[in-house]
Amino acid sequence: MANPSSFYLTTPIFYVNDAPHIGHAYTEVAADVLARWHRQAGDDAWFLTGTDEHGQKILRTATANGVAPKEWADRLVESAWKPLLDTIDISNDDFIRTTDARHEEGVAKFLQKLHDDGHVYAGEFEALYCVGCEEFKPKSEIVDGTGEFAGEKVCAIHSKPLELLQEKNYFFKMSAFQDRLLALYEERPDFVQPASARNEVIAFVQQGLEDLSISRTSFDWGIPIPWDSSHVTYVWFDALLNYVTAIGYGQDDAEFARRWPANHLVGKDILRFHAVIWPAMLMAAGLEVPNHVFAHGWLLVGGEKMSKSKLTGIAPNEITDTFGSDAFRYYFMRAISFGHDGSFSWEDLSARYQAELANGFGNLASRVLAMNAKYFEGRVPETHDERPADAAIRELAARAAATADERISAFAIHEAIAAVWELVDALNGYITEQEPWALAKDPEQRDRLSTVLATATEGLRALAVLLSPVIPRATAKLWTALGAEAALGALADQPIRDAGSWGLLPAGTEQGQLAALFPRIETDTEK
Ligand code: MSP
Repeated sequence: MANPSSFYLTTPIFYVNDAPHIGHAYTEVAADVLARWHRQAGDDAWFLTGTDEHGQKILRTATANGVAPKEWADRLVESAWKPLLDTIDISNDDFIRTTDARHEEGVAKFLQKLHDDGHVYAGEFEALYCVGCEEFKPKSEIVDGTGEFAGEKVCAIHSKPLELLQEKNYFFKMSAFQDRLLALYEERPDFVQPASARNEVIAFVQQGLEDLSISRTSFDWGIPIPWDSSHVTYVWFDALLNYVTAIGYGQDDAEFARRWPANHLVGKDILRFHAVIWPAMLMAAGLEVPNHVFAHGWLLVGGEKMSKSKLTGIAPNEITDTFGSDAFRYYFMRAISFGHDGSFSWEDLSARYQAELANGFGNLASRVLAMNAKYFEGRVPETHDERPADAAIRELAARAAATADERISAFAIHEAIAAVWELVDALNGYITEQEPWALAKDPEQRDRLSTVLATATEGLRALAVLLSPVIPRATAKLWTALGAEAALGALADQPIRDAGSWGLLPAGTEQGQLAALFPRIETDTEK
């Protein structure tokens, strides 16, 4: 029986032909924010990421670099992909490589089952293949080349020539699942999200599904087909199975039952694999289809999908070295509507860092803590009579927490952050209006001063919890400075769905110093 509190979240597994750029880091951060939120909400969360290491693309890169493919993959995983997770503070629970024994064994079991159950047959095939996509291209994605590729057929995504492949392959009878897939999209409108992605998938399947070639004989860098070792498994068929082999498919039934089905985050370029091929594979194997497949947009540079092969790739540490990992995470989650394309620019990043993180949130935190230090000996002040302005903050905190939680469950990360940011802005406005520095000059206003700063401090407590999935480093510093670590325990243990409750941080709690959360950066924004 499905575990109702399970929240199993996956990223695509990344090709190890090259080092990561900010497009890859974007998927990771989005998944990480969702995973941290659900974990802190008390769900049985599990967050998987990893690497896709077989297939022609990796083989060719390794060969061009004069090393065996496994050696190449090991090198890239250790020197580039695992370090990326530290660079941007990813809290994954597991990391799967398609060269792991657990994966290779699981893929063989799955294939054998499909073969035994009559879903696989041998046939001949000839079609145009894109090694960049590792896919036989549908007509809609084959275009005429220009420039050096004029006169050739090229891939619409990679703008590189397609190769005519002709082989004897094994085929998965995917066409047999067309009606069941259409029924799935109909019955579960939130299976593919956002709506634009769902429409695209439905239109694609309505055109008619073909069977899928699932093996190759022209090279051997892949998982052998269990009943015919002269073939290796098609890299996408192999890769998609990581989502089940990582949680014990065929090996640990209890773990599998606890986690499955998954929620998949994918870039829109790989939507079809996840929303068509993958559920058809699962249906054939008698397994449940995923809960959701959410397709996010692309990071664009100069109006085009940013990519290394088009030389527009930006390495994540080019940003984090200057702005820090929190700013990286905040910027991409806040500035881009999740599910839509978004353009990256250094100017926008710099402007948001200064206005929202440094002046908006960071400054609020330092001002309140500095006033508590100055007027209340560094302790959380007491609340006296609540006035409408204080009540408005309390009510807004409750609303922000509830809205953010609801928006996160709908994968609308940017809207969740915007809801929380209303509290940042409201608190800044509240302090400007209440003028605690003026109240401090009048001994008769001592209680009022205390209430204002208590309200602001409690607001910071709520913000630290609500923003911790997005900016874990800054909120951890704030948590300690608030004295909340000692009074309430670790930040990661604070139930996020209760973050909007009021009066949690006890009056009298001893507070500490807070260094600037987002220090001023002298940066060349023309970079
Ligand atoms: N290996 C396959 C996925 C297999 S999943 C079973 C793959 N790998 S990838 O490394 O090319 O891409 C991984 C993810 O990075 C995809 O979701 C892709 O959309 C995302 N991005 C790559 N470039 C991107 C941008 N410029 N912008 C946003 N995301 C992008 O595909």
